Amino acid sequence: MSTSGERSADWLDSNRALWDERVPIHASSDPYDVDGFLKGANVLMDFEAGEVGDVAGKRLLHLQCHMGQETLTWARLGAARVVGLDFSEPALKVARELAAELGYGEDRAAFVRSDVYEAASSVPEADYDIVYVSVGSINWLPDVRRWARVVASLLAPGGFLYLYEFHPVSHTLDEATGSRFVRDYIARGPVVRETPGSYTDRHGPASSTVNNLATEWVHGLGEVVSALVAAGLRIEFLHEYDRTMFPQFKSFVQGEDGCFRPPPEQPRVPLLYSLRAARD
Ligand SMILES: C[S@@+](CC[C@H](N)C(=O)[O-])C[C@H]1O[C@@H](n2cnc3c(N)ncnc32)[C@H](O)[C@@H]1O
Repeated sequence: MSTSGERSADWLDSNRALWDERVPIHASSDPYDVDGFLKGANVLMDFEAGEVGDVAGKRLLHLQCHMGQETLTWARLGAARVVGLDFSEPALKVARELAAELGYGEDRAAFVRSDVYEAASSVPEADYDIVYVSVGSINWLPDVRRWARVVASLLAPGGFLYLYEFHPVSHTLDEATGSRFVRDYIARGPVVRETPGSYTDRHGPASSTVNNLATEWVHGLGEVVSALVAAGLRIEFLHEYDRTMFPQFKSFVQGEDGCFRPPPEQPRVPLLYSLRAARD
């Protein structure tokens, strides 16, 4: 991994090209298991449904929805209206096809193309009961305070943000054990690197890709929480988890729940976090 303080303004285009190219790879991959999803397979982490709570009758906006599987899961769980937003048109095309296969019309599940920062002028409704953001999302955004203001502006009074993300500590750890700091926790990026293939490749042969330049940022836990508070939201909880959904570090072992954790002789570290932030 290399870091650079200098990036030209084309990072958004190169990130979009990277994601566009990976959509067909993901749509036919085991981890995204589109066929299983259409048959009813769950794509949420075990803690998400309980932490979000009852979505029946709610209007939910999913920022950075990728192929819409999580978005559509909230519809399956009873949300009255779900809207998925992403900047990748190929991802939205898959999402719309999945919605159609599941029998959801535009009124129940809509997908819009937009940069996250332009969401307020792109989504069909002015406000939502729930704004949902899930793992692998805010690392693609340079300014977490601006993101928090966008989120707050999209929430109806009484609504809340639910965010579930990789813990920033997990980006600092050694690849062999995931228990030693080998990278700076305080550095925020941009982290600019060549990332051929996809994270779905660990289940099969390496994918051949040409758009490999990824520009990402690390947002510390304190910065995320402080940004949400500064945007006028009230933190309801912040949970840290010692498990992840893939073998992120070589020594990790898979448990009966399918999640990966360090072996018992290693210290546990935070790998994921979730939070809820309400608009009173
Ligand atoms: C890892 S996915 C997150 C969704 C889901 N948790 C998943 O793992 O499939 C990240 C998504 O962010 C989208 N994305 C990245 N930068 C974006 C931006 N600036 N505006 C809108 N979408 C963006 C990508 O197209 C991709 O679909």
